[in-house]
Amino acid sequence: MKTKIFVDKNLKIGTIKHELYGSFIEHLGRAVYEGIYEPNHPKADSSGFRKDVIELIKELNVSTVRYPGGNFLSGYHYIDGLGPKNLRPTRLDLAWQTIEDNSFGTDEFMKWAKKAKVEPMMAVNMGTGSPLEAARLVEYCNFPSGTKMSDYRIKNGSKDPYNIKYWCLGNEMDGPWQISGLSAQAYATKALQTAKMMKMVDENLSLIACGSSSPEMDTYPEWDRIVLETLYDEVDYISMHRYYAHDSTLEDFYASYKDMDDFIQTIKSTINYVKALKRSDKEVKISFDEWNIWYIKESKLGKWTKAPHLIEDNYSMKDALVFSGLINTLINNVDVVEMASLAQLVNVIAPILTMKNGEAIKQTTFYPFKNASNNTVNGTALKTIVTGPTFESKYGKANYVSTSIIDNKEKQEITIFLTNYKKEKMDTEIEIRSFDKINPIYYEVLSSNNRENKNNFQNPELVKPIKKELPKISNNILKIELEPESYHMIICKYDGDLNE
Ligand code: AHR
Repeated sequence: MKTKIFVDKNLKIGTIKHELYGSFIEHLGRAVYEGIYEPNHPKADSSGFRKDVIELIKELNVSTVRYPGGNFLSGYHYIDGLGPKNLRPTRLDLAWQTIEDNSFGTDEFMKWAKKAKVEPMMAVNMGTGSPLEAARLVEYCNFPSGTKMSDYRIKNGSKDPYNIKYWCLGNEMDGPWQISGLSAQAYATKALQTAKMMKMVDENLSLIACGSSSPEMDTYPEWDRIVLETLYDEVDYISMHRYYAHDSTLEDFYASYKDMDDFIQTIKSTINYVKALKRSDKEVKISFDEWNIWYIKESKLGKWTKAPHLIEDNYSMKDALVFSGLINTLINNVDVVEMASLAQLVNVIAPILTMKNGEAIKQTTFYPFKNASNNTVNGTALKTIVTGPTFESKYGKANYVSTSIIDNKEKQEITIFLTNYKKEKMDTEIEIRSFDKINPIYYEVLSSNNRENKNNFQNPELVKPIKKELPKISNNILKIELEPESYHMIICKYDGDLNE
């Protein structure tokens, strides 16, 4: 039985913003130290930033980078990371049981972000931090001059304000693991006061409220309702977080893309419920600001060392398949998921791994992210109907083929992503309706003879995409035989009126 996919130019989901392809750097393990910042590395620049890592991040075309955490955030006081380095205190990071010497702080991050050409997404401490502290961080970053905090920034070397737009009001405040975690109402009340004070300093901020840390939380989705009911008028986004692992059957793992979709539908409904309750015209969107595959759990904490090897998952071919399905789900929900952050970017559950004093390599997950972020931005995600074989999973029935299809009108190109989760080949037909003549111009496939294959420092290119012969098309029906357990990107050109 074959898979048939139907798509029509006129059936649009929404425009894909670059912000869908954000990522995340936390003071966790070797994400900062030995990841993006390693002053003694041969490829470090004069500020200590690894240029080889910056090049890979540019290749990934990352938009926003969330910083400084994560669980680290709720015990972090940014003041410790400002000013002359020799005067900065060394602290215990209680979240990851690590020694933090604060040699990298807000100013270093901002300098790095400029070099890496990414947009900062700053987070304020809603655990042990206060509304006043948050407002003063906005003053430090965004106020031009003439006040204690803005003049302090100037003294620290940044004459111009940073004008940071995106700000997260805390991190996973529903989690019992969070330092000074709160109940939904206590968090919402604190975040409301904080949001108001931050906006008094700079009214142009885009704020993100903490949503549920996962659909497995006992407080889900009540947490989201309460937070939205309190914060609806002040925030632009509610966050979602979700990680997956191959910890039950392979089918369950492969169906992760379906679970992510179900989770989004619930939060979308909750947003719509609160919108109606408030008789509001405003549309709060979703910032899916932590998503990925995550195996190594926190049993391995830092044992009070600096930059320990924490959560350095090494991803396989099967992980890349799941990862690509998650990207499809994000793309297929851009009407409500406007922003997302892959957690994380370097070393810690990341597409890039570095060796101290050594190389930086691409994990299997690097490729689906790179393809999506380089071939869909400003395009229109189109609705797809998928019919064909399905498999059972703990999340219900899922199609063997996951897809997303994007109309890049400016380039007159269609980008097609397909992931085949079947252990056998899958005959697939894609009927592309309402376009003029379509011609495939590029086709690449990521596959491997063993789904457990991974890239590592000894063999960094074991799993990488291969360019393939263009698939056949007739009457705008594309016919492809998808290899077993494989990921595909096809780009087609079309004729047509640019002004349509
Ligand atoms: O990304 C790793 C951790 O996962 C983050 O610190 C936390 O927000 C989440 O639980």
